[in-house]
Amino acid sequence: MRKKIVAGNWKMYNDLSETTILLAALKEQVFPEDVNVMVAPAFTNLQYASDTLREHPVTVAAQNMHQSEKGAFTGEVSAVMLKSIGVETVILGHSERRAYFNENSALLAEKVNSALSNNMTAIFCFGEELVDRKAGKHFDVVREQLEDGLFHISEKDWKHIILAYEPVWAIGTGETASPEQAQEIHQFIRKTISENYSEAIAENVSILYGGSVKPANAEEIFGQKDVDGGLIGGASLDAESFIAIVNAF
Ligand code: PGA
Repeated sequence: MRKKIVAGNWKMYNDLSETTILLAALKEQVFPEDVNVMVAPAFTNLQYASDTLREHPVTVAAQNMHQSEKGAFTGEVSAVMLKSIGVETVILGHSERRAYFNENSALLAEKVNSALSNNMTAIFCFGEELVDRKAGKHFDVVREQLEDGLFHISEKDWKHIILAYEPVWAIGTGETASPEQAQEIHQFIRKTISENYSEAIAENVSILYGGSVKPANAEEIFGQKDVDGGLIGGASLDAESFIAIVNAF
């Protein structure tokens, strides 16, 4: 059975004192038992978050990592380092990484491999840009991103994968895919996995929607048959709105 997941991507927001305040508010909450709540603070605050949430059901994720386990890669952080502070989940391929840090599918495939070989869970992000959608190419773009970055993994690896469909035109723009648009593409994603792997794998993978999810639209989006939760940016920085989104399930 696939899991319901709400993950907050804090991006390059929240210094240590802001992180402390936000985590304290989340720690007080009793979230619905069937919803897996995750937060992804900046690297500098990961150890604090991991320590403070050690006995708590909220999972701490990193926003990125390098594909190698160690080496002369100034400024980078590896899977081994994340694991050493208790972080076992990592967001890979966020559209901001793809756009501003030149992360392409070949590189992402290597990052996925590093996550899997270190027994981490990867939240694999993908999604089309506005030009693709306007040209009616969104299905092709999404299929290619999956094929090139992810579909080399083995069947057994799928239990360590969470998918996050994030149309670039909806990220941080206030513009959300309609619930019908989200359902249409999530269904397509599941069908594509089923064709390349099996129906069982397609049915068991959680597919999150990301892009301007807020308390006002979360319930309708999460209510779609093939939407298993959300990757939340802006609205995850405010305790009250993030809690409301989790409770929208
Ligand atoms: P947003 O960001 O919710 O602010 O649109 C989503 C994301 O980038 O994951």
